[in-house]
Amino acid sequence: MIVQKTIHDIFKDAINSKPIFKDKSVLTINFTPQNIMHRDSFIYTLSKILAVSLKGDKPSNVFIYGPTGTGKTLVTTFVLKELKKAADDNGSNLTYVYVNSNLKRVADTEYRLLSYIANELGESIPFTGLPTDVVYDRFFKKLKEIGGVVILAIDEIDILVEKIGDRFLYTLTRINQELEGVVVSLIGISNNLSFTEHLDARVKSSLSEEEIWFTPYNALQLRDILNERAKLAFNEGKINEAVINKCAALAAQEHGDARKALDLLRVAGEIAERLNAEKVLEEHVDMAEKKIDYDRIFEAVKTLPKHSNFVLYAIIELLKENDNSKVLTGDVYNTYSDICKRNKIKPLTQRRVSDIISELDVLGIINAKVISHGRYGRTREITFSNSLDTYLKIKDFIKKEWLFND
Ligand SMILES: Nc1ncnc2c1ncn2[C@@H]1O[C@H](COP(=O)(O)OP(=O)(O)O)[C@@H](O)[C@H]1O
Ligand SMILES: [Mg+2]
Repeated sequence: MIVQKTIHDIFKDAINSKPIFKDKSVLTINFTPQNIMHRDSFIYTLSKILAVSLKGDKPSNVFIYGPTGTGKTLVTTFVLKELKKAADDNGSNLTYVYVNSNLKRVADTEYRLLSYIANELGESIPFTGLPTDVVYDRFFKKLKEIGGVVILAIDEIDILVEKIGDRFLYTLTRINQELEGVVVSLIGISNNLSFTEHLDARVKSSLSEEEIWFTPYNALQLRDILNERAKLAFNEGKINEAVINKCAALAAQEHGDARKALDLLRVAGEIAERLNAEKVLEEHVDMAEKKIDYDRIFEAVKTLPKHSNFVLYAIIELLKENDNSKVLTGDVYNTYSDICKRNKIKPLTQRRVSDIISELDVLGIINAKVISHGRYGRTREITFSNSLDTYLKIKDFIKKEWLFND
């Protein structure tokens, strides 16, 4: 009887069982939530700055900054859409263009940026071929033709400036002195806090007529954001509070990043699905965290040249031997030279290896803090930015990829 009951349950479960996800796309970056939580004050501040455009006045330029995943893009695009609706209802002449500098076709050159914006404004300019001056002229002409208030929102502006310099910003912030019949305002958005330090002083002060600093989310706020999404993303009974709380807590530790929280939840769900689990469990979140860390570092490592790989290999080997505490630049150099010798490769100089170590730090692959080290002067103290497991997998990858003797 008992056996029959069990079989009965299996069949019943099979009939009733639902997939983990109802709609996974809700947890991806392309999904725009209906409800923006815990950002009221930022929505309010930005709206207040831009509202003067409804009367035809020029809003101040705004510089928006804060760590990744704090809702900068979401809030800005939301406020711009609402502003446009209000302008249309009111008969105000308002136009906005949102530029995502992460798109390759936008951010390669100044020419591409301009032609992209001009095309968004309805002036068709080929993506290559004209002199930049001509593109500027046609862009200005188009602006005059459109008239009213034009808001240019440039997201990830730090990445853009790094690639194409800040000349375009100089021009865009001066534009109002040259053009009549139209006012142009800029919104610059950046994840990088120190970005403005490198700007031309005049550009900097005019871009930051107003500044809005987006604060990181805390664990409770992230929990609210996740709960809202989880309702749409998962089938009933497939996710519980403990799982959500865990994702929220981990992402809160990492500068309150909502994107990370959503990634954790999505990847945990995918892992549960792959393991044919009945529902998402906390242990799936742990696995998700490792996978995300590994993927992120792996993406960066894949693009590194040969010697950077060797240096990283030496670091991983040393840190493993040192029980994952820390190592110094000099030790890395010795181990790295040994690896080169064993593989019959000429090692780079200690100075070059120092540079590589700081590059690896900038890429977020390791942490390398500069310390002063007695009579040896400055050196770097190197630690892992992730779990040892992750690095051991990276080490295997390097070994296979470069086929060497360790
Ligand atoms: N307050 C919020 N409510 C709902 N979802 C949010 C909120 N803040 C951020 N998100 C989501 O988190 C992710 C990252 O937000 P985003 O605006 O891209 O951050 P940033 O531009 O600051 O890096 C997006 O998927 C976004 O939809
Ligand atoms: Mg963004």
